[in-house]
Amino acid sequence: MHSAAITGTGVFTPTETISNDELVVAFNAHADMFNSQNAKAIAAGTCAAKPHSSADFILAASGIERRYVLNKSGVLNPDRMYPSLPARADDAPSVMAEIGVDAAQQALEQAGVAASCVDAVICAASNHERAYPAIAVEIQSLLGTSGFAFDMNVACSSATFGIQTATDMIRSGSIRSALVINPEICSAHLEWRDRDCHFIFGDVATATLLQRTQDAQGPHFTVRSTKLATHFSNNIRNNNGFLRRTRDQMEDRRDMQFMQNGRKVFKEVLPLVSKHIAEHMSHDGITAADLRRLWLHQANKSMNDYIGKKVLGRDPSPQEQPNILQDYANTSSAGSIIAFAQNSADLTTGEIGLICSFGAGYSVGSVIVERS
Ligand code: COA
Repeated sequence: MHSAAITGTGVFTPTETISNDELVVAFNAHADMFNSQNAKAIAAGTCAAKPHSSADFILAASGIERRYVLNKSGVLNPDRMYPSLPARADDAPSVMAEIGVDAAQQALEQAGVAASCVDAVICAASNHERAYPAIAVEIQSLLGTSGFAFDMNVACSSATFGIQTATDMIRSGSIRSALVINPEICSAHLEWRDRDCHFIFGDVATATLLQRTQDAQGPHFTVRSTKLATHFSNNIRNNNGFLRRTRDQMEDRRDMQFMQNGRKVFKEVLPLVSKHIAEHMSHDGITAADLRRLWLHQANKSMNDYIGKKVLGRDPSPQEQPNILQDYANTSSAGSIIAFAQNSADLTTGEIGLICSFGAGYSVGSVIVERS
C-alpha cells in the first residue's frame, strides 16, 4: 500500500466582486419593479409582494461581506438578475475548463510537477456546464496530462470526495498522481431574485494535486486518512437536469435553480458533521489536542463557529479555524480548499489538520492531513 500526499493547491479567483450593499441595491430595485408590475395581484392578495433585502441581515445571518463572480453586470441588472455567460462554440474551451486549468496550473507550479506527469484528472463540482464529454477530459487535453479523466458531483462535498477517490487510487497503485479540480460557477445556478438565498454564493475554481508521497519534491501534506458519508435529504436541491426543456418552460420553475430550507440545513447538518469529524478523529487515533487547524466548508460563519467549538471543545481562534467566506461567500465544494490553500503554509512538520466539507445530499467528507 502506497501513501498519498497533497503537494500543491491552486485557487482561481475572478476579477469582479459584488459587495452586500451592491447586491441589495440591485435586489431591491428588482423587488420594486416586481411589486409595481404586479400591483393589482398584490392588492387582490393573489400574489405576494417581494420584501426588500438587507445588507445588515446578510452579514449577521451568514458572515458574508462580498463575493467574486465571473460576470457582475448581468447579476446586478435588475431586469436580468443572472450572469451574462454567453454559450461558447464547441471548439472553444468551456468556462469550467478554463478556470479549472488556471487553478490546476498554480497547483502544478507549486509542486514543481509537469502536467504530463499527472495520471488522472477529476473534475469534482456541484454543477457541470454540460452533460458530456466530461469537463475533466477537456481539462486533461488543455493541460496535457496523461492517463484518464472523469467528472463527479457530490455538491458541496465534491472536493473531499474527489480527494478520497484520488487518494485511494494512489494508495492502491493504479495511479501515481491526480489533480482534483473544483470549478464552481455558483452564480449560474443561484436564483438571484430570491431574497432568502440571493446572497449565498460566489464563483471560484480550486485545484488539489495529489501524488505518491515518495514523489513529493517539496513541503507537502501526507493524507493520513479520509472519511465520507451521505444521508438523503431534499433540503438542498436543484432539479435542473437533462430533462429540462426550453428556457420558456423553465421561466416559472423555481426548482431549476438552487433551493434550500436553510434553517433545516443548519439544524440537521451541524450534528451530522460534528459526529462525523469526532468519529473520523477517533478512528485516526487523534484528539482535539493534536489538531492544529480546521479547514471547514464555507457556507455560514455561525455554522463553522459551532462545528469548531464542538470539535476542539472550546472556541477556536481565527488562525485555528480560518474562514474565507467573508470574501468569497459560499463557493460550494471549493470553500474548504480555498481555506486550506490560503492558510496552511505555516504548519510545521508533524502538525495535523482536518479539511471538512458538507452540503447537499446530505454529504460530508473529511480528510486528515499531516505536514511533512
Ligand atoms: N434580507 C432581510 N431579511 C431576510 C433576508 C434578506 N436577504 N432573507 C431572509 N430574511 C428574513 C426572513 O424572511 C425571516 O423573517 P421572519 O423571521 O419575519 O420570517 C428572517 O429574516 C430570518 O430568516 P431565516 O431564513 O430564518 O434566517 P437564518 O438565520 O436561518 O439565515 C441562512 C439564513 C440561509 C443564512 C442560514 O439558514 C444558513 O446559512 N443555513 C445553512 C445554509 C447551508 O449551509 N446551506 C448549504 C448550501 S450548499
